[in-house]
Amino acid sequence: MTTPRQIQFAEIDLNAIADFEGRVVAFVGLDGQLDLSARRVNRLTKNMLKRFAASETFEKMKPGEAHDLSYPVGLKATAVQVIKLKRRATQDEARKAGASIAKASQGAALLVLAGTIVKAAEVSLGLALRCYDFSDHRSSENQQLGAVTIMVSKPEEIAAQSGPMAALTEGVFFTRDLVNEPANILTTDDFAARLAAMQEIGLDVEILEEDELEKLGMGSLLCVGQGSRSPSKVVVMQWHGGPKGEAPLALVGKGVVFDTGGISLKPAAGMEDMTMDMGGAGVVSGVMRALALRGAKANVVGLVGLVENMPDGNATRPGDVVKSMKGDTIEVINTDAEGRLVLCDVMWYAQERFKPSGMIDLATLTGAVIIGLGHENAGVFSNDNKFCNAFLKAAEIEGEGAWRLPLGQAYDDQLKSRIADMKNVGGRPAGSITAAQFLKRFVKDETPWIHLDIAGVASVTSETALAPKGATGWGVLALDRMIRNLHES
Ligand code: BES
Ligand code: MN
Ligand code: ZN
Repeated sequence: MTTPRQIQFAEIDLNAIADFEGRVVAFVGLDGQLDLSARRVNRLTKNMLKRFAASETFEKMKPGEAHDLSYPVGLKATAVQVIKLKRRATQDEARKAGASIAKASQGAALLVLAGTIVKAAEVSLGLALRCYDFSDHRSSENQQLGAVTIMVSKPEEIAAQSGPMAALTEGVFFTRDLVNEPANILTTDDFAARLAAMQEIGLDVEILEEDELEKLGMGSLLCVGQGSRSPSKVVVMQWHGGPKGEAPLALVGKGVVFDTGGISLKPAAGMEDMTMDMGGAGVVSGVMRALALRGAKANVVGLVGLVENMPDGNATRPGDVVKSMKGDTIEVINTDAEGRLVLCDVMWYAQERFKPSGMIDLATLTGAVIIGLGHENAGVFSNDNKFCNAFLKAAEIEGEGAWRLPLGQAYDDQLKSRIADMKNVGGRPAGSITAAQFLKRFVKDETPWIHLDIAGVASVTSETALAPKGATGWGVLALDRMIRNLHES
């Protein structure tokens, strides 16, 4: 497991600056103003910062951008990283500044002179999130990371703001680790064991095995995993931080630990990316971890359907008809449209058992959402404007792209089957919408519901603002923010 880098806040100690041997980070205002500690650096370096602040290079830098001044005379530091940032930076600018510190640091010890930066805690969050590195499987890499000290004028206050953010970083790292982990290691058993271990931090965790799922009538979910050696499971994680007896918010995740497509086999090229097909379950797990670690005052239940979609002599065939827990029958036209088959049973179970105040499902559900929205936005679908807007607002504040797409009867009509209640694919047009329409058939009228298709955002091939290549952890921050807004304020 990747553990976040240790970050501590300290009082401004001007005497410590000259002798610090790692990298020093100084903030310079947009018009070149220097605060107390930056002035100290300037004096020690014989006017280096002021000269830099007057340079054309500095003038051309965008707010939040960084520039290294290497081996400064007068300091023991290997470099002074200058970041152009105003004292009252926005949350986004502060996080991005933190990310640029992390990116340049390469693991070196850091002394960040954030004295008067108002959102210093956000700088530390950006720094922490961008320090992520999935190096578990590189035998050469056993890098000792240097300590990070952030000097601020009110260390206790900033540390208090930073506490819940550290829980978020842990949640995001948990999600990223799950999503990055290859499928021979993150089997359904291993995934469930990692979730069961979260009992230690106060979550109630239950694992429903195949025999119980059969008793519950989850014929749709079970048909997906029946070609795999790994047993299918549903894991239920409960967090009781809110008022006793208050209906929980339900988070439901698609946890296909590997998606070969099944008998409707995917092409070989790029199939290795399907290790991330448990991304929805990964986000649900990361949110639950963050809620527990920060002691959220809300009732939330996370449910994940863990299966592996493999071709086999026992695998589901195209044309097979299965029966869902709800009782509706499904004609499996394409075994590669497996995510909806998993989700529909877990969603039905979540509503039957918990009568949630709202339900949000997350899934790397369709390639079509990548065609429509690329890697910038998740597809958002909902039956409830107010609930949906609460999510969209939270996502915007957290800088996690999300864009609502329509639902409608005409799309639902594409799911009509000749022999069963529905088929599992609606054809090529509007593939993400017909997938959402399929799920909607398993949402009760009284349940406010959001479906998030995260196929494009869960894992990416080029780095994002706060994450290196690979798993992003998209959604953990937004969902945590939404829960805080709806249930904790
Ligand atoms: N897991 C895939 C969707 C996916 C594609 C996720 C690319 C991430 C990147 C899903 O199970 C799938 O195979 N969907 C099919 C549906 C089709 C058969 C109706 C798809 O999108 O092609
Ligand atoms: Mn598939
Ligand atoms: Zn899939």
